[in-house]
Amino acid sequence: MIGPVDDRSSLARTLSDWRRMGLRIGLVPTMGNLHAGHFALLTQARGSADRVVASVFVNPTQFGAGEDYERYPRTLADDAAGLAAHGCDLLFAPSPAAIYPFGADAGSRVTVPALADVLCGAHRPGHFDGVATVVARLFALVRPDCAVFGEKDFQQLRIIERMNEDVGFGVAILRGTTVRDADGLALSSRNRYLNNAQRRTAARLHAVLSEVAGCWRGAEEGDAVLTAARDTLVAEGFALDYLEARCETDLSVASRTDRDPVRIFVAARLGGTRLIDNLRIR
Ligand code: PAF
Repeated sequence: MIGPVDDRSSLARTLSDWRRMGLRIGLVPTMGNLHAGHFALLTQARGSADRVVASVFVNPTQFGAGEDYERYPRTLADDAAGLAAHGCDLLFAPSPAAIYPFGADAGSRVTVPALADVLCGAHRPGHFDGVATVVARLFALVRPDCAVFGEKDFQQLRIIERMNEDVGFGVAILRGTTVRDADGLALSSRNRYLNNAQRRTAARLHAVLSEVAGCWRGAEEGDAVLTAARDTLVAEGFALDYLEARCETDLSVASRTDRDPVRIFVAARLGGTRLIDNLRIR
């Protein structure tokens, strides 16, 4: 594996060699502290590309005031070893200047209206502008043929798909299935913030989503099901940001006339840790 490479020109040199050889390039953007969920994305990229670039960058523009930017786990040496073991060809761990040459606050921004204003966007103002901005910059620097994003962050995935289509990057966006622990908890770098008791409770998030999926009979009867699920989670100790059923394509609230697949989305806090998950229910 080449890297960690932290500047634009070293990255460009390797990429242009690969392009000259006619190789197809895949990208897996991450913020590091990698786990089996990330490595599954890498394996998926390997299946569709000749060379895979993974990026590790804790992106300041997607964290709000008071969020965990400072304490977000930074584990580059372990990440590099894991990536090498899972077939990564190049690790791009850019310096802040390689991503934001004019400074994180002074650079151009990408906004994806509508999709970014609901669900997590309503609770984390500016978060998805930061995500869209950094992914657009990574697309511009790497110019990948394909890139993989996990369904665990389904709203993020839809925003990136929309931006890619809208701006015309022409990247094939591949959706990675959520990887879960044996008790159903979706893998996340933030799970490490949970104490033992919280970790046990956290598994209820997926269990409750599965219960909703099991008894969902359509949006016309769905409100009662969603209310019961919210009450259950709150009774079990979660502070709920939202639990909602929305259409996959435009993230609009599920209604009785929808033909689109519907997903249930949840964001909830245990102590200071915010967890998100989602599940297709129809
Ligand atoms: O999902 C993440 O880890 C991040 O939001 C991403 C896509 C790498 C952008 O910083």
